[in-house]
Amino acid sequence: MAVQVLGIETSCDESSASLVRDGTGLISNVVASQVDLHRDYGGVVPEIAARAHVESIIPVISEALAGVGERPDLIAVTVGPGLVGSLVVGISVAKGLAWSWDVPLVAVNHLEAHAMATVLESNALEYPFLALVVSGGHTVLAEVRGVDDMEIVGETLDDALGEAYDKVSMYLGLGYPGGPAIDRVSAEGRSDAVPFPRAMMKSGDFNFSLSGLKTAVIRFMQKAKREGDVPATADVASSFQAAALEVVVVKTVDAALERGLRKVVMGGGVACNSVLRRWLAEACEENGLALAQPSPSLCTDNAAMVASLGYFRYKAGHRSGLELDVYPNLRLGATIPRGQEG
Ligand code: KG4
Ligand code: ZN
Repeated sequence: MAVQVLGIETSCDESSASLVRDGTGLISNVVASQVDLHRDYGGVVPEIAARAHVESIIPVISEALAGVGERPDLIAVTVGPGLVGSLVVGISVAKGLAWSWDVPLVAVNHLEAHAMATVLESNALEYPFLALVVSGGHTVLAEVRGVDDMEIVGETLDDALGEAYDKVSMYLGLGYPGGPAIDRVSAEGRSDAVPFPRAMMKSGDFNFSLSGLKTAVIRFMQKAKREGDVPATADVASSFQAAALEVVVVKTVDAALERGLRKVVMGGGVACNSVLRRWLAEACEENGLALAQPSPSLCTDNAAMVASLGYFRYKAGHRSGLELDVYPNLRLGATIPRGQEG
């Protein structure tokens, strides 16, 4: 019998609910973005985010279930990583609905959901593969061998890739969120205008560092202004983007080759980036690697990926009780702490 899963996602600044049949059949995916509430601050303000989730999550769930006419068979909810106040709103609603509808509840790791989101379009996932998850809060490469078998291969040692985009964009006066703004502006700029450092390109591992690049952009601009020789913003943005993405593309391909993985899968908000998509596609093709690039709506935060992974975790035997808690620092591949599964 088909299993209809209600997914609930509130880990950062999008309130989202989705209904998915049997892990891959997308019925609805409603996302209420808070981006306008955080714009003036140039980043997500945790207190504002949590309050906005309280206001929007019930209408978002109602919309996701509209026209279905019956209760779902399972509820999947993000328990981490993310902002503690935002996560608490999601799991509180999920627990209340699971109790009142008397349906099972399953916990989902947000990063693992990003790594697996492509299954909603490919309908089946062949393991193993290398996942590149790049978002506002995370930059991680992981070997995915199954829903319960994921291992971090490399990650950022400081800022996340999306965070670097957002901070550099604010500094260059391009606004928030910075990723889409820099993506757009860079199309008119020269990526070789400023030779920004390719941080950790030769570190011998698959980790990343992005805070030095952000500082290099600021120092470069300060000096250029002092000397009265400021290049076009599009050139600076495009050069920053090239420096950041070149390292990501090279390390992603090298990690797949070193681990003998034949397929790369992208996920997270920065996976919407047009240059990253193009460069990674070219690099994968040159090296004989298959590449899955989910549609942008499945790259940015959404509950469809949560419902989908929730279904596969349920099939693998996972269940959560009403004592379920949130884990703001949950790592990809980590077991959700004992006592939450039964
Ligand atoms: O996955 P996501 O929606 O939320 C988190 O879990 O963080 O990712 C949001 C991040 C933001 O930093 C935003 O600037 C970035 O994804 N982003 C992009 C693009 N679209 C969104 N970064 C680069 N290029 C884009 N086109
Ligand atoms: Zn995310």
